[in-house]
Amino acid sequence: MPNTHAEIHVVRKDNRHLYENYFDPYFRLRYEIYVKQRKWMALDRPDGREIDQFDTDEAVYLFAIEAGQLIGAMRAVPTLSPTLMSDIFPYLNLRGPVRRPDIYELSRVFVIPERRGEHAGPRVEMLLLTAIMEYGVSIGLTAFSIVLESWWLPRFERIGWKAHPLGLPHQMDGMSVLAVLVDCDEATWKSLCGQIGMSVPVLTWRGLGDINRRALPALSLLPPPAAQHAR
Ligand code: COA
Repeated sequence: MPNTHAEIHVVRKDNRHLYENYFDPYFRLRYEIYVKQRKWMALDRPDGREIDQFDTDEAVYLFAIEAGQLIGAMRAVPTLSPTLMSDIFPYLNLRGPVRRPDIYELSRVFVIPERRGEHAGPRVEMLLLTAIMEYGVSIGLTAFSIVLESWWLPRFERIGWKAHPLGLPHQMDGMSVLAVLVDCDEATWKSLCGQIGMSVPVLTWRGLGDINRRALPALSLLPPPAAQHAR
């Protein structure tokens, strides 16, 4: 059973007003994690919030919220809009920019430090990776584009995220960084649900009754958790 009571909320321009109180803590957390801890100094800003040019109305956020507290998040930006890969790191993608209605770019995935590495059950991070796959399948995406550090690749391999490199890794500030496309499909979503012992979709779509999406079914045929490959 999940060892977290986190709910994963979809937050988009249509329902952002319901989550306005979370945005200031969210941008401050990003500053704390990316600028102060990870020392990505290009993101530094004097107001102590990490906000960039991709935090527009088009951005979709997954907020992991537990007892009213934001404990993790992820951002997805449609590739028809400017993205990190198209505007900042185009040289990572040998095939040229990804601009497709069925592909979103993922970025800024984080879990607050005190909720990382929870090996006893589904980690908040794993919940976010399952939730974004659910989001993609629900709205008809076929892939996610990501600029990532190469240490993610074995992690993706372990959980069954199928990542296809778009170019060679580059060294940046001591990090090995590359661009990938990750398949977004129902089989991967089901497998992730199996790994974390979830038999129902995990996303909360508060205030989003009007958007065009496919309601995903409960998964009654999952093998028992003992037979699954949680990392
Ligand atoms: N460099 C290399 N490896 C890293 C890493 C980094 N910056 N951050 C995490 N890892 C590896 C850890 O070594 C660890 O490996 P292990 O379990 O084999 O020891 C594994 O990833 C687990 O990481 P951990 O931080 O314990 O927790 P998690 O799996 O619950 O959460 C993240 C993973 C990435 C969500 C979390 O580390 C985080 O929020 N980091 C800060 C934000 C960030 O850098 N996001 C990625 C870029 S957007």
